[in-house]
Amino acid sequence: MAQDHKKLFIKTWGCQMNVYDSHRMVDILSPLGYKMVETPDDADMIILNTCHIREKATEKVFSELGRLKPLKEKKTQQGSKALLAVAGCVAQAEGEFIMERAPYVDMVFGPQTYQDLPEMVAKAIGAYGNARIVNTELTTDNKFDSLPEESHDQGVSAFLSVQEGCDKFCTFCVVPYTRGSEYSRPVAQIMEEARRMISNGVREINFLGQNVNAYHGLDKDGKVWGLGRLIRELAELDGLDRIRYTTSHPRDMDDDLIKAHGEVDKLMPFLHLPVQSGSDRILKLMNRKHTADDYRRIIDKLRTAQPDLALSSDFIVGFPGETEEDHAATLKLVEDIGYTSCYSFKYSPRPGTPGANMGGMVREDIKTRRLQELQALLNEQQQAFNENTIGMTLPVLLDRKGSREGQMHGRSPYMQSVHITANERLYGQIVEVKVEKAFANSVSGSLITQDGKILTAA
Ligand code: 5AD
Ligand code: SF4
Repeated sequence: MAQDHKKLFIKTWGCQMNVYDSHRMVDILSPLGYKMVETPDDADMIILNTCHIREKATEKVFSELGRLKPLKEKKTQQGSKALLAVAGCVAQAEGEFIMERAPYVDMVFGPQTYQDLPEMVAKAIGAYGNARIVNTELTTDNKFDSLPEESHDQGVSAFLSVQEGCDKFCTFCVVPYTRGSEYSRPVAQIMEEARRMISNGVREINFLGQNVNAYHGLDKDGKVWGLGRLIRELAELDGLDRIRYTTSHPRDMDDDLIKAHGEVDKLMPFLHLPVQSGSDRILKLMNRKHTADDYRRIIDKLRTAQPDLALSSDFIVGFPGETEEDHAATLKLVEDIGYTSCYSFKYSPRPGTPGANMGGMVREDIKTRRLQELQALLNEQQQAFNENTIGMTLPVLLDRKGSREGQMHGRSPYMQSVHITANERLYGQIVEVKVEKAFANSVSGSLITQDGKILTAA
């Protein structure tokens, strides 16, 4: 009997952009009969959607490929073919090398090529011969134009990609090389997708982009809109309750976007604005093109516009040439700003980036100690922030079941994880929660009913 559908397994590493792209690959492959499955065991196509930002990224891909090779061989023995593909940023950076070192891989394709997937698949499964495909084009005409409408269940809080790529060339970062130059989707296309998402039950939209606040998309009259304007337009849509955006660069935090934080009620009072270091000398070596005081001034303006704003950032310790004094400047900046959650990393050289060839590499044990010091401070701030919300009643969007029976998980406006005892029928609703307990990474509390009673104890 003919098989009704083909099994597709995708493993996704890395950032939200990759998670988003994996969903898009599912959408684009579904007209060809592919359906997602939970394990690679019997899959007809396996895609590794890879991330290049961390150390040993390429080795991790090769060891995963090594594990998958027997599955592909088993399929061949059974007389069918399993396609093995590497997508994402490692594919972009190491295309030919992967093909050489792993001859059993059928397709290697970069993040700008997903619109060509049907054609690549046709070539690889043999419709035009049994070709092995390497596609690492960084085209300027973009993948968004030809992607189909999303067909997967997006939940109640979902990402909407508005911008891709980056022209900033921070000296530690591979993104400008793997994702290509900045591209913004046109306004109409974004709004159409937003409307569709809302009609599918999405209540919170998180605008996504590598450099999302560099957004400069065209409206139908050919005028350029910034992200502030786009957020205001999105806020007009009925049925949508919450707006967020990630990830931003300090240099693109323009006045209109800052003002939007004070004026658009649906824009949540939380911002992820990576600064990376608090030392001007290191910021210069990183090619960030702003000083620590520029960053402080931007935060001041944001807090003037929206005094309730919670902040998060990314930090790198041990960038080449970083001294104890530079490290102290980072700690000082953290003290000055006060964050509610953060990501911090030890610098790891990425081949092909200027940082990898800089002198003054910092010793591993020094990096470890600096990271511990920074994380101790950041954790303290996060715990203090969570404790500060005890006693407050916050609107919480319930976005999934909690890990314990009878528990639901949601997000406060400040992006805190919130756990409450609640019926799962409340999924997708924004409920009032009185915060009672604070933990390092979350808070818990009780549901408040409309007449102000506490419904359940956490
Ligand atoms: N080493 C360490 N951290 C890095 N990041 C990006 N590149 C590197 C690197 N080479 C971090 C930055 C960025 C986040 C997504 O990852 O802090 O903001
Ligand atoms: Fe990388 Fe810097 Fe661009 Fe962010 S702004 S993606 S850190 S180059």
